[in-house]
Amino acid sequence: MRVGFVQNNPVFGNVQKNLARVEKLLEGQSADLFVLPELFATGYQFKNKKEVQGLAEQVPEGTTTNALTSVAKKNNTFIIAGLAEIDKNHVYNSAVITGPNGYIGKYRKIHLFDTEKACFDPGNLPLKVFDIAGAKVGVMICFDWRFPETARSLALLGADLIAHPSNLVLAHCPQAMITRCLENRVFAVTADRVGKEDRIEGEALKFMGKSQVVDPDGNILVRASETEEEIQIVEIDLEKARDKFLTPHNHIFEDRREDLYC
Ligand code: ACM
Repeated sequence: MRVGFVQNNPVFGNVQKNLARVEKLLEGQSADLFVLPELFATGYQFKNKKEVQGLAEQVPEGTTTNALTSVAKKNNTFIIAGLAEIDKNHVYNSAVITGPNGYIGKYRKIHLFDTEKACFDPGNLPLKVFDIAGAKVGVMICFDWRFPETARSLALLGADLIAHPSNLVLAHCPQAMITRCLENRVFAVTADRVGKEDRIEGEALKFMGKSQVVDPDGNILVRASETEEEIQIVEIDLEKARDKFLTPHNHIFEDRREDLYC
């Protein structure tokens, strides 16, 4: 399977421009799955819920999902990308999963970070694994990494690979994702953005790039720069994620001592 990430630098609020830029970056690129960053087409730092409501879109009816589906059809690929979703009077920090045959599903971020709590409703959908190009793919968004139960739940649901749209501001995440992969023997594709946003007084944000693909042995297969927009693609062997033995006598799930855990 060939998997890739897009690392972009969106202009806050300019959805058309950001979509066009990502479409350009993806032109002529070939992979089975591309992961795009969290809120890749709107930008990240909303001031309040009203502002999110102004830019959020229905999923799957909205412009961003439709544009991604068109690209997925054109490039014969699957795309998992973060976007602001509106559903009646609720707004979610969501990810959409779409492919060559159209819309597949969505995930709504369950662990909201910092000021996101004032802007979004917490995700209310169960963690789920999607069938994508022969792989079982789980989805989590950025700060979900800080709660190991998220990746563990996806792995227990059968995920071979975790798609991880992100807007990273906490320095430990790229390294921590290596641990998430080791803990669960899964692949992870973290798609981050670069650039800065300074829309809330005293809360300037710098996004760290370093999008990456990590394998079940904790190897970083590819990692992007901290400053540039880029696409990287790598070939992965899913069988590696399906072997949960650490030694002939240690199985990563069967050796768990659920009788002694909280
Ligand atoms: C984050 O969850 N975007 C830090």
